[in-house]
Amino acid sequence: MSELTLSGRSRIAGVMGWPVAHSRSPRLHGYWLRTHGIDGAYIPLPVRPEQFAIALRALPMLGFAGVNVTVPHKEAALAAVNRSDAAARRIGAVNTIVIMPDGTLDGRNSDGFGFEENLRAAIPSWSPTTGPAVILGAGGAARAIAVSLLEGGAPEIRLVNRTIERAERLSREIGGPFRIYSWSARTSALADAALLVNTTTLGMSGQPALELPLDRLPTTAVVNDIVYSPLETALLATAKGRGNATVDGLGMLLHQARPGFAAWFGVEPTVTPELRRFVLEAPG
Ligand SMILES: NC(=O)c1ccc[n+]([C@@H]2O[C@H](COP(=O)([O-])OP(=O)(O)OC[C@H]3O[C@@H](n4cnc5c(N)ncnc54)[C@H](OP(=O)(O)O)[C@@H]3O)[C@@H](O)[C@H]2O)c1
Repeated sequence: MSELTLSGRSRIAGVMGWPVAHSRSPRLHGYWLRTHGIDGAYIPLPVRPEQFAIALRALPMLGFAGVNVTVPHKEAALAAVNRSDAAARRIGAVNTIVIMPDGTLDGRNSDGFGFEENLRAAIPSWSPTTGPAVILGAGGAARAIAVSLLEGGAPEIRLVNRTIERAERLSREIGGPFRIYSWSARTSALADAALLVNTTTLGMSGQPALELPLDRLPTTAVVNDIVYSPLETALLATAKGRGNATVDGLGMLLHQARPGFAAWFGVEPTVTPELRRFVLEAPG
């Protein structure tokens, strides 16, 4: 990679979050900036929730090309932008903001795109139309994945969540062929499923384990864990051991970053094994 040197014409983007120190996005975008020799920077922007709207409004005045928005600002970003795309509105959150030449803020959501591209990159024959999908969790990531699956033609989405009201709200707000399962009934959701996705925090380093016997899951089902720390979660290891195709969660993070980078810096970046290694080398 070439050395990074900024000029007075540098394009600037970043990630707004609170906290933001754990984010791998500066390393990810920094890799692409250097490999493409772009005169630009992507910086972490720690912004408190109560100051988010003010900080966002300042970006056009500071000459930013745009930002990513992460926890806890994604829903507030939808309300704060001047325009949003259909995916962002259906998900109820914005993760990518592009600052237009007239200084207005264009809000988009690329989490569903990242999810789908990750599955397609890992398993080129994968299609959401194959059969019922099981989503564990009903938080922000689950919303983006549900919208992506529905737009891809999934015939049925089985939502399993500890707080059943949250799953019901997701189903009501997004609309589609949802079936809701309580957490205690989670194994029954697995019968005849074509896809199982974990979007809960369970199984993540420092979090409780995900306890889910897979006996009822067909071995033809694809299993995806969007938790990527550790990269091979216990869910993925168990699924692999019984013959299911498995996909880890790092690729979703990498692919969701592509549309923002292309919009801010004018180059379509690619996700490569070298990029995966580079991002994984960062302390978690
Ligand atoms: N790979 C990627 O690119 C990517 C992108 C986004 C997120 N993620 C990861 O996905 C995970 C979820 O993110 P999010 O933004 O959707 O978070 P979120 O909105 O806070 O949702 C968390 C989900 O986990 C469930 N949960 C938490 N503790 C639980 C427990 N003890 N038992 C059962 N369920 C439990 C919650 O259930 P309740 O509703 O009952 O609280 C909820 O469904 C995180 O680990 C995040 O790092 C990865």
